[in-house]
Amino acid sequence: MNCSEFSPVRLRRLRRTAAIRDLFAMPRPAAANFIWPVFVLPGTGRREAIASMPGQFRLSADELVKELAPVVAQGVKTVLLFGQHEGEGKDECGTPAEDPQGAVQQAIPVLRAAYPDLVILTDVCLCAYTSHGHCGPHDLEGDIDNDAACEMLARVAVSHARAGADGVAPSAMMDGQIAAIRQALDEEGFKKTILISYSTKFASQMYGPFRDAENSAPSQGDRQGYQASYRDPGTALRESMVDEAEGADALMVKPALFYLDLIKEVRSRTDLPVMAYNVSGEYSMIFAAAEKGYCDLYATARESLYAIFRAGATQVISYWAPFYSKIFG
Ligand code: PBG
Ligand code: ZN
Repeated sequence: MNCSEFSPVRLRRLRRTAAIRDLFAMPRPAAANFIWPVFVLPGTGRREAIASMPGQFRLSADELVKELAPVVAQGVKTVLLFGQHEGEGKDECGTPAEDPQGAVQQAIPVLRAAYPDLVILTDVCLCAYTSHGHCGPHDLEGDIDNDAACEMLARVAVSHARAGADGVAPSAMMDGQIAAIRQALDEEGFKKTILISYSTKFASQMYGPFRDAENSAPSQGDRQGYQASYRDPGTALRESMVDEAEGADALMVKPALFYLDLIKEVRSRTDLPVMAYNVSGEYSMIFAAAEKGYCDLYATARESLYAIFRAGATQVISYWAPFYSKIFG
């Protein structure tokens, strides 16, 4: 006997036809709430495919201008820039990160000229610029020196603001980095520069393809001494709350898909925007599974992005941004 035969509850009424399903669907994630992370190279005319991230490229600023046209046409309005440093000059402190001639600093005015309304955000970290690949310099005991890193991060943020960034997003997970950067920005006259904190950023296996793209893997050790532990969600939540108190304009949970509970929890504790970083591993995993025929690429991407917004993210930083129309169209 079918149990629903005698039950007045028939949930299937609300999904009988495609039009009825559309009627009861939550709003579809908007292109305007997507942020596209991009990898900028120094120089011109350069375009390098990233083997571990199908569909993503390292681009010089002029090539990025071309690559952005179809993305902006889909309604995506925001990019997050990651820089590279080539050749000599990487050192203990990551000095090349604040170079006014650096890839990010040089790309900002080029993008601004081509797309005056584009929201240009920058990742502020040192790992792509230190000789050892950590997100700050070492102290005498071999730890990552928190306060020295904060001073350096503040200088890097100011260099990005000076180049014309609308917002800076520090990702080093140093204590006090938000206060240090806000103070430096204000002192240098960049009171309007948005400060987005990678506030609850976990030490994760999901960054592998990105580190390949950025050549930013630590040469020794790992990042568990500064990035949050997924075994200690209480402290991970405090990371976001402390950054709100230090003056962050927006918070973030990163990665997104293994941390939907934290997105929801942070969202319930703050009125700030809660961004989710749908990281490289989450993107490449779906690509790899689709290539094997285990799932449909865009349908799986769509399902995962709905999950992130359902959890309460207000914006998503995602490599899927250039595929917005294919995923949601
Ligand atoms: C650098 C940084 C990382 C990511 C963003 N900024 C890598 C890391 O912390 O090792 C990861 C982004 C991604 O995987 O898509 N601090
Ligand atoms: Zn870093």
